[in-house]
Amino acid sequence: DVQNCFDMVLFGGTGDLVKRKLLPALYNAFVDENINSEARFFCVGRSAMTDQEYSDMAYKFATEAKNTISAESWREFSKHIRYLQMDANNSETFNKLPEVLDKTRTNIFYLSTSPELFKPICSNIAKVGMNHSNSRIVLEKPLGHDLKSSNDINDYVAQYFKEDQIYRIDHYLGKESVQNLMAIRFGNTLFEALWRRQWVSSVQITIAEDLGVGSRGDFYEQTGALRDMLQNHLLQLLCIVAMEPPSSLEADVIRDEKLKVLRSLKPLTEDDVVKNVIKGQYKSGAINGSPVKGYLEEEKVSPNSITETFVAVKAEIQNWRWAEVPFYLRTGKRMQEKVAEIVIQFKDIPVKIFPTAGGNFANRLIIRLQPDETVKLYFLAKQPGDTNRLQPVYLDLNFNEMFQARRTDGYERLLLDVIRGKLTLFVRRDEQIAAWKWVEPILDTWRELKIPPKQYTAGSWGPASSSALLARDGLYWHEEI
Ligand code: BG6
Repeated sequence: DVQNCFDMVLFGGTGDLVKRKLLPALYNAFVDENINSEARFFCVGRSAMTDQEYSDMAYKFATEAKNTISAESWREFSKHIRYLQMDANNSETFNKLPEVLDKTRTNIFYLSTSPELFKPICSNIAKVGMNHSNSRIVLEKPLGHDLKSSNDINDYVAQYFKEDQIYRIDHYLGKESVQNLMAIRFGNTLFEALWRRQWVSSVQITIAEDLGVGSRGDFYEQTGALRDMLQNHLLQLLCIVAMEPPSSLEADVIRDEKLKVLRSLKPLTEDDVVKNVIKGQYKSGAINGSPVKGYLEEEKVSPNSITETFVAVKAEIQNWRWAEVPFYLRTGKRMQEKVAEIVIQFKDIPVKIFPTAGGNFANRLIIRLQPDETVKLYFLAKQPGDTNRLQPVYLDLNFNEMFQARRTDGYERLLLDVIRGKLTLFVRRDEQIAAWKWVEPILDTWRELKIPPKQYTAGSWGPASSSALLARDGLYWHEEI
């Protein structure tokens, strides 16, 4: 029921995520009438502010982040927003919660704060009795910085909330394009039959960004690309590409299948990490012709930092469907362009009877998740005229042209799912553990061997060793062909 009535408390209310992503997403859902007209949002911060001051500030950020916000609709929306001055570490300030929240409604607590505050916030919510059967808690990443710390947080939260009350966000799962990936695989017979080691020779998954670390230098120094992107977003995409067909869309059915993929990932030895994982860091360069700083010159970054801003991994899934098919994953900041895409390379034909011109593009499916959402299928066709020569051609589907309707952004979909109590697109605890377990040998090896990052020029596609990782197998990253 889209009209569930709820009260939502947003901790970290003055933080970037709430102002730039969550409130604009809630605003959109509100304008579309997907939100109950009695619903209320309580935004929490430490400083003193009136409701009006908060709403004005939020409006300013929302319009900067998204220019389709109308002042009039925002005024309507902001009638539902209240500001609460609270301090996560001061339990007395939590006495406000039972006063303002209506326990007969769904009470949603969204923790968009640094993870050190997850523990005090949970116990303080419990102290005032607000972890009741109508409560839900939403946890933003990063949920810890390794297996142990993630287990600590999860154990702690589990003292107060049951697993089916816990919504661990990975905003990539909310992206329309990521759900489309499931639709392509499991809504059609066409692809599924070929989606296996007998017909697929390799898979590439890329999430590249052209932005640098911006003002988040201090956060990023502690995090790095492996924890920020690979442990969660990239592995979640890998799960959706590689999972077995689920028997329904029910949360645990999907999550069981994703878990199986994570558990089938071939564990990395120290040698594997040295050979098959590339750690990179951007140096100064140019993005779209404008010069940009190197990572070491960024604000709040140590001048001899060895934190990675790029990571590429060759992974293998040890199951009957995928054994020996390499999965190449990579992500980085300050790369040539912002793009997320999945490349499925099908095997070569066994016998060639035609001469072929131009590139090795054939038998390739490219699913682009952003910025534009497209599916391109490359195959060979005969050149016109008096020749037998084949040449790569493609079918090109653009979802924005196909569907005119507004496409919701990841957070909007996920927030609506929390409100409706749908856990399918949230990460279950055992998935998170399995992902950390697989990533941990990389963290350990980098730490123990003090592996320095390979430099790459800002605006490039990453360090040369990233190309070499594929070249060793006779392959190229998609854009290098
Ligand atoms: C976040 C990371 O989870 O994802 C950021 O913390 C990154 O560093 C962002 O920029 C990328 O998300 P999107 O939706 O812009 O691809």
